[in-house]
Amino acid sequence: MPDESLTLLLTAGAIQTRVAELGAEISRDYRGKEPVLIGVLKGSLVFMADLARRITVPVSVDFMSITSYGHTDSPSGIVRILKDLDESITDRDVILVEDIIDTGLTLTYLLATLGARRPRSLEVCGLLDKTARRIIDVPIRYTGFDIPDEFVIGYGLDFEGRYRNLREVIGVKDLGALADPDAVSRVLAAGSSGSSA
Ligand code: IMP
Ligand code: MG
Repeated sequence: MPDESLTLLLTAGAIQTRVAELGAEISRDYRGKEPVLIGVLKGSLVFMADLARRITVPVSVDFMSITSYGHTDSPSGIVRILKDLDESITDRDVILVEDIIDTGLTLTYLLATLGARRPRSLEVCGLLDKTARRIIDVPIRYTGFDIPDEFVIGYGLDFEGRYRNLREVIGVKDLGALADPDAVSRVLAAGSSGSSA
């Protein structure tokens, strides 16, 4: 019996197809330029690695690590930088690469912080967009997928540090379902034999 509390939202194939499209779009838009991709650790790790390899203009990558105060349920919008960028972004064309935009609070803070360093341009590429939960309107230039208001894991996104290594994105209606160590593999097995993304 498939477990209703977990659903295969995006197959590995659907993600790869979309990431290739985003890479092609960015390559067209940045022709003649040399953008820097900035990843927000740790969630953007997998998306960043795949996206960077789909971009055909010269790119560099840099990372920052942040921690948010408050919880997913009661986000505060206050962010602390744990690891800053290695390089200056002044006069650079910057693309901020995010795993997911939820309330928009984290992104708003990051855009203000990075914008103050006077990049030549600053755009956002987000794999997943949970528009239903948006608190602050944020400009997102490139979006992979609009997803429902549901907690998701996989393809960089974690629950308690786990599941970042999944090639798929799974929606979790009941976090308790993850207590069963086989629940995720059952959903993936059912998904690969039947429904698509
Ligand atoms: P927000 O847009 O400020 O609410 O926060 C976005 C951050 O919260 C993301 O970068 C993720 O790290 C985390 N996050 C939001 N929704 C989810 C989810 O469904 N699964 C895992 N992490 C999430
Ligand atoms: Mg994150």
